[in-house]
Amino acid sequence: MPVLSCHNIALELGGRQILRDVNLSVEQAEVVGLAGPNGAGKTSLFEVLSGRNTNHQGQVLFDGKDVSKLPMHERVQLGLVRTFQRPVVPATLTVGETLKAARKAFDPKPSRLRMEWVAEFVHLNSHMDTPNGSLETLERRKLMLACLLAREPKVVLLDEPASGLTGSEIDEIDLIVRKLAQEYGISVLIIEHRLELLAMVASRVMVLDVGEIIAEGPPETVFREPAVRAAYFDVPVEAAMVGE
Ligand SMILES: Nc1ncnc2c1ncn2[C@@H]1O[C@H](COP(=O)(O)OP(=O)(O)OP(=O)(O)O)[C@@H](O)[C@H]1O
Ligand SMILES: [Mg+2]
Repeated sequence: MPVLSCHNIALELGGRQILRDVNLSVEQAEVVGLAGPNGAGKTSLFEVLSGRNTNHQGQVLFDGKDVSKLPMHERVQLGLVRTFQRPVVPATLTVGETLKAARKAFDPKPSRLRMEWVAEFVHLNSHMDTPNGSLETLERRKLMLACLLAREPKVVLLDEPASGLTGSEIDEIDLIVRKLAQEYGISVLIIEHRLELLAMVASRVMVLDVGEIIAEGPPETVFREPAVRAAYFDVPVEAAMVGE
C-alpha cells in the first residue's frame, strides 16, 4: 500500500483550473520526482498534499487514512511534512534558537539528543550562535529540513531543494535524500527543475504540464519522451542524463 497517494485531484484558483485529474502514489522508502515547466502546478499540488489548500476535488490518502479535509498542522502530526520553495528562515533567530523553537513546537517534544542528531544528519555546518540572516541558501535549506526531521516524518515533500545551489551543493542534497529513503525508510516526493538531481535520486518521476500529469516512469525514459521535451522546450534534456 502506498504511504501517500492522491486521486483525481482537481484545483481551481482565481477562476482558473490549475490541476486536473492528478493521480500519484509514493511507496514507503521511495523517492519520487515531480518535474514540469514553470507554472505547471507542482507547488499547487504540494499545497493540496500538505493540507495548506483543502479546497480541491479528489482525495489525499496518507498512511491508510483519507486526510483530504485535514489541515496542514494535523498532517504534520501524522508524519507528512513539507519544505517551501523559498528557504525562508526566522530572520531574528540564531540557528540554535531555531532548532529550539522547532523542538518546542512539536508535541510530543523531540529529545535534545534528537535535535543534535537531525543537525548532524543534514550536515549543518553553522555554529549554533550564527544568526539565520547570515546563512547561505544551502544552510537555510538544511536548517529547515533539520527542524522537520525532528518530528520523525514518514513522508517528506521537498519543493525545489536544489534551486540556486552549485553542483557540489546539489550532491549534498542528493546524499541527504538517499539517506532518508535508504537508511531510514522515509519516502520523499521531490519537485525539481534540476533534472540531474532527479536522475540521480528518483526511482520514478512524474511530469506535470498545465495541471496534468503528461508522463511517468523511470527518469532515463521519461526525460526522453517527446511530450516531456516539448513541455520543457528549451531545457537541455540530454544534459540531465547522468553517464551519457
Ligand atoms: N493563489 C493563486 N491564485 C491564482 N493563481 C495561482 C495561485 N497560486 C498559483 N497560481 C497559478 O497556478 C499556476 C501553477 O502555479 P504553481 O506555483 O503551482 O506552479 P509550479 O509548477 O510550482 O511553478 P514553478 O516551477 O515556477 O515553481 C500558475 O499559473 C500560477 O500563476
Ligand atoms: Mg513551484
